[in-house]
Amino acid sequence: MAYILGIETSCDDTSAAILENEYVRANLIANQKIHETYGGVVPELASRAHQQSIVPVVDSALKQAGLTVRDLDAIAFTRGPGLLGSLLVGTSFAKSMSMALSIPLIEVNHLDAHILSHFIKENDESPVPDFPHLCLLASGGHTQIVLVKSPFDMEVIGRTIDDAAGEAFDKSAKIMDLGYPGGPVIDRLAKEGNPNAFTFAEPRISGYDYSFSGLKTSILYLIRDNLRKDPDFIEKNRNDLSASIQDTIVKILMQKLCLAAKDLSIKTITIAGGVSANSAMRNAISETGKKMGWTTFIPPREYTTDNAAMIAIGGYFKYLNKDFCGLDVVPFARG
Ligand code: KG4
Ligand code: ZN
Repeated sequence: MAYILGIETSCDDTSAAILENEYVRANLIANQKIHETYGGVVPELASRAHQQSIVPVVDSALKQAGLTVRDLDAIAFTRGPGLLGSLLVGTSFAKSMSMALSIPLIEVNHLDAHILSHFIKENDESPVPDFPHLCLLASGGHTQIVLVKSPFDMEVIGRTIDDAAGEAFDKSAKIMDLGYPGGPVIDRLAKEGNPNAFTFAEPRISGYDYSFSGLKTSILYLIRDNLRKDPDFIEKNRNDLSASIQDTIVKILMQKLCLAAKDLSIKTITIAGGVSANSAMRNAISETGKKMGWTTFIPPREYTTDNAAMIAIGGYFKYLNKDFCGLDVVPFARG
């Protein structure tokens, strides 16, 4: 039995989690509201906020789990990719704790952790994906189709050549002045809208790769042209625009995923990352899954966006393999 403390500070959420083997005992996230004012994450402010939050968040996670630092068996932290200044806060904190407590330090890749979030267990009945499986990882920074052969062997077979899917949501929301992050707002407004009200350009790109920059331009032009005729166009069509944009993004994501699943004859399909919190995305996976005879895994919403439980599960797999790192480990910004 092992207690693993997970620490995630790659972007604008300070998170600490404690796992008892693969079972969650605490998973706390301190969101940084400050970035809403700026319509996006301001790296310098993010790292400062991490410094303020890291001690109280870890302390609360321990209290919630009913443990003290002496009970911990290892510390797992996000090494990258992410914002360097933010990653440094979590990395330095994890190093100091590991040194003070003389327990192993484990570095975890943020993207691997999103994919491994499916192995976090809530109870004994929680099913987990088998290997190999395909994971559609769609977040604010990345969009990839990953062939997951084991927790340590993952092959990216498709990736975005420009914007990530989450970025497509966020940039579309920015055009409509809906605030940041835009994904959850579009998700909410889309529930009242018609997904067929507007049509946008869909990318024509070969293989399993994605592209979202053309969609952004197409949205921008449609809105600009209509605003000339009616200055209240956005206001009047907010729900329909949201539903149509969301529908297009989900369609784009699903097309390549279906193609890859068919070509590789893989029927275990998972989704991960912030965009997997999207209602239409979750629906599309389960509906398509039923049609195609897939076994699908859709993470609980708390494990879709950035969280430390996924870092701790990544750490747990490495703990079992005694795959530890030294105190000289440094974070990396790009994957
Ligand atoms: O995985 P994540 O928390 O951070 C990164 O590693 O990037 O993903 C954040 C992204 C943002 O772009 C956000 O707008 C998007 O996930 N997102 C959503 C939803 N919730 C978060 N996009 C669409 N619908 C949602 N419900
Ligand atoms: Zn993430």
